[in-house]
Amino acid sequence: MSASYEVRGAVAVITLNNPPVNGLGMVTRSAIAAGIEQAVADACVKAIVITGAGKAFSGGADIREFGSPKATQEPNLLSLIRLCENTPKPVLAAIHTVCMGGGLELALGCHYRVASPGAQIALPEVKLGLVPGAGGTQRLPRVLGLETALNMIVKGDPVKSEVLAALPGQKLFDRVIEGDLLTGACSYALEVADIRPLPLVRNLKAAHPQGDAYFAFARNTVGAVAKHFPAPQKCVDCVEAATKLDIEEGLLLERGHFLSLMMTPESKALRHAFFGERAASKIPDVLEDTPLRPVATVGVIGAGTMGGGISMNFLNAGIPVTILETQQAALDRGVATIRKNYEAQVKKGKLKLEKCEERMALLKTTLSYDDLKACDLIIEAVFEEIGVKQVVFERLDAIAKPGAILASNTSTLDVDKIASFTRRPQDVVGMHFFSPANVMKLLEVVRGRATAHDVLATVMKVAKTIKKTAVVSGVCDGFIGNRMIEQYSRQAGFLLEEGCTPAQVDKAVEKFGFAMGPFRMGDLAGNDIGWAIRKRRYLEKPQMRYSKTADLLCEKGRYGQKTGAGWYDYALGKRDAIPSAEVVKMIEDHRRALRITPRRIPDEEIVHRLVYSLVNEAAKILEEGIANKASDVDMVYLTGYGFPLWRGGPLCYADTQGLFNVVQAMKRFARNPHDDADFWQPAPLLTKLAAEGKTFS
Ligand code: NAI
Repeated sequence: MSASYEVRGAVAVITLNNPPVNGLGMVTRSAIAAGIEQAVADACVKAIVITGAGKAFSGGADIREFGSPKATQEPNLLSLIRLCENTPKPVLAAIHTVCMGGGLELALGCHYRVASPGAQIALPEVKLGLVPGAGGTQRLPRVLGLETALNMIVKGDPVKSEVLAALPGQKLFDRVIEGDLLTGACSYALEVADIRPLPLVRNLKAAHPQGDAYFAFARNTVGAVAKHFPAPQKCVDCVEAATKLDIEEGLLLERGHFLSLMMTPESKALRHAFFGERAASKIPDVLEDTPLRPVATVGVIGAGTMGGGISMNFLNAGIPVTILETQQAALDRGVATIRKNYEAQVKKGKLKLEKCEERMALLKTTLSYDDLKACDLIIEAVFEEIGVKQVVFERLDAIAKPGAILASNTSTLDVDKIASFTRRPQDVVGMHFFSPANVMKLLEVVRGRATAHDVLATVMKVAKTIKKTAVVSGVCDGFIGNRMIEQYSRQAGFLLEEGCTPAQVDKAVEKFGFAMGPFRMGDLAGNDIGWAIRKRRYLEKPQMRYSKTADLLCEKGRYGQKTGAGWYDYALGKRDAIPSAEVVKMIEDHRRALRITPRRIPDEEIVHRLVYSLVNEAAKILEEGIANKASDVDMVYLTGYGFPLWRGGPLCYADTQGLFNVVQAMKRFARNPHDDADFWQPAPLLTKLAAEGKTFS
């Protein structure tokens, strides 16, 4: 039973009770329907109040039922709403805290709605690539006016109940109740108990004074901001239908759009990302109720690029930070950069001046390890040299309090080795932030051989507090993200040798939807970083083939934006990539030396060679257990590498293409004499899934 029933005087109260957010799963829907029937049958009951226990009225559909037959089993949400509308006694929704999606649609089917102030009201379906599917697009415009309703439906963001209640002419809320909601709701229910006919949202009219002109304007605006997603346009269609069609026809149209959007790759990708985000925080062998270590104070070692950004995350969350450096000058520089970043936000109106000062006041600096003794979590972000890390971790081991979590932000070094510098390897973990660390969502949590379960669980919780998407990675060179990108960069090099220019490759990949192509990305990150990695890598594996073009580029000192020249030219102080004749000539000369006759490579081949490089390495990463699940890999790419959201990440994309086709393409690439046959050996997991007709997900 996931809704309870009680009678208070002459009012029946049905309380949804399906934690965490009273999702409208099958059992809950049945319990509501049963409650209504019981109330109707009870002669002493004059009115019915529906409300929610705990932290929500209702968050909407139960996501655990998504895609399963249970989601549509009777009474489905549409039937339940119809039942409310047709109930001969007044039904009143008493809304608090959260009322979203199906929860709001249910409330719109009730005769009356009262709300506590501060409740979050939304139809967020568009964020999953859908339109609301149970009348939201037909009923919300009838109570809120067209523009407000359309904005809410197209954006999906929550609006506070008191804001909506203050709109002139609104009919969403009959009353805002300060104080005890249920008491207020029951007394309002009695006030209206005898009024007939019962008011129905469906009987109201929705219209806009500008009519068609308004919808033309809305379509243009939506088209400009949501070009890769079909759902927002369908939202406009549905809301327009609410003004033009009879409600039953409007509901049918909405239903049709809902069902057809459900099948689009865009909605599948968005739902994949939505579930992927939630799944990423679950670690197979770490129990959900693992006791956490308290994290109230944080230490950061190194006030450079990463140390500063990392510190800002904690300051933003109201957690005090102490930064340690070896020199006062380095500390001063680091603090000045943090302040500059905050002041820039203040200038842009994104941060209040008091907030900026509040955050800066939480920041302390020190040259002495003694000042880190009380820290619960210490994150190291010093130079990427194992010797320097050793010095730091030995010091930390000597001073940190027992149970303090010792984290390294290393991007390439062995976390197990770093842990071995301490006598408490169980407390050591990798926290690999991405640059700029105060902006990028991704955090790779690197799990060492000895990392304790409660350390992992705590770091995952900390990640949530600082609003990061944390993905667990095992220890390997490059962890999940950079290990995959190395293969992608290698393939990009082969493309140059075979006939492409950097601009052609970047354009193809950007058209596919990446935020940035591989060469623009190289120029931004600094081509010297890859150069250093290649030198190391090909000492270890001299037999591995790679294109020397990137080395030739670095030999010219073309490290990227920071040197004013890389794969592209850059005007002084500008970031616009200008194709470089010098680089094109360098590539042509190199090609000639390799005796390759250039070929015009179609965009689709460019994209598939690059994306499938990621996919093949990801399959190896999964097989080795470096990543726990396919969706984790996708989350890394969606939140850290600019992979197009509407494609759901590299593995989701491969699934959409069909793994059989992916493997066939790899075999084709392997036969290309200018590519590398070894490179395109499909990973055993990929071969197996393709042969069995399965997908990564
Ligand atoms: P950085 O050179 O900007 O900053 C390093 C800071 O550490 C400097 O301020 C330096 O004075 C300080 N430092 C050096 N030795 C120290 C010691 N023994 N004790 C205290 N402070 C010391 O370097 P960046 O870019 O911030 O990198 C730091 C770490 O983060 C490295 O491990 C790097 O691999 C990793 N990383 C860097 C990313 C990037 O995009 N820059 C991305 C992800 C990780």
